[in-house]
Amino acid sequence: MPSTDPAAILDAHGLRFAALGSAAARPHLDLAPLGVDATFLEAEHEPGWVARYHLVNLARFGGPLSLPGWVLADLYLLPSAIGLLLDGDDIVAAYYAAPSLEPGTVIGVSLLSLREGLGAGYAVKALTLAMYRAKVQRGITQWRSRAVRVHTRFGPLEVEGPAPAVHGAAAESFVYRVALGAPTPDTRVAVPIAEAIARTAAGERLTIVGPGLHADGEHVWLAE
Ligand SMILES: CC(C)(COP(=O)(O)OP(=O)(O)OC[C@H]1O[C@@H](n2cnc3c(N)ncnc32)[C@H](O)[C@@H]1OP(=O)(O)O)[C@@H](O)C(=O)NCCC(=O)NCCS
Repeated sequence: MPSTDPAAILDAHGLRFAALGSAAARPHLDLAPLGVDATFLEAEHEPGWVARYHLVNLARFGGPLSLPGWVLADLYLLPSAIGLLLDGDDIVAAYYAAPSLEPGTVIGVSLLSLREGLGAGYAVKALTLAMYRAKVQRGITQWRSRAVRVHTRFGPLEVEGPAPAVHGAAAESFVYRVALGAPTPDTRVAVPIAEAIARTAAGERLTIVGPGLHADGEHVWLAE
């Protein structure tokens, strides 16, 4: 199992943390999140890094979830900054959550890793949320994605409901809210994903707890 200390994951693999975003966002970010020094890459002057991020995002999210350039410019880089784990000039993992109108709450938009098995997804998400000083995170994720293993490390996922139909992968996705660092309940039960989807569609508010996705990929762990 990968380490739970983001700084240790970076040290073990010779990685560094960087933020890629608008100069206007810079003063609002904690650029030493969890004690890790962040390099700030000003998007206005770093077209090469913007293009590199766009390419890795397109490599990880295809078809209906492909990231249009205008969304990257208008909704990622103008309002805030993307967190990056870098190995030299290579992007190893990245996380972006958009600011929201609820103070302290961010909306998870994109988590990706190109080097699985290191805990890179967890490390970049932990550092980026700390950089935003986020207290609560909402977002949409896929029931059968190993990302659920990463998301539940930050606290129990309160399932708010199915993803809106307009989402490119609505049938496989759900909307969740997590109070960052909230304790995980002691008792849990593994439920088939098909059942969890049906109960969510019927309006039940499920709570997904760590480790989230069962090793068989077909069950989720729910608070009892
Ligand atoms: C999700 C993603 C970021 C994970 O990358 P990563 O953090 O480098 O992956 P890791 O190898 O460190 O594994 C992450 C977790 O998944 C677990 N995992 C690995 N294989 C698994 C499997 N087959 N089934 C369930 N969990 C699995 C790991 O054990 C780890 O959990 P743990 O720490 O509790 O043990 C990566 O797979 C990715 O980029 N996917 C495509 C994009 C995507 O779907 N993003 C999420 C959208 S919300």
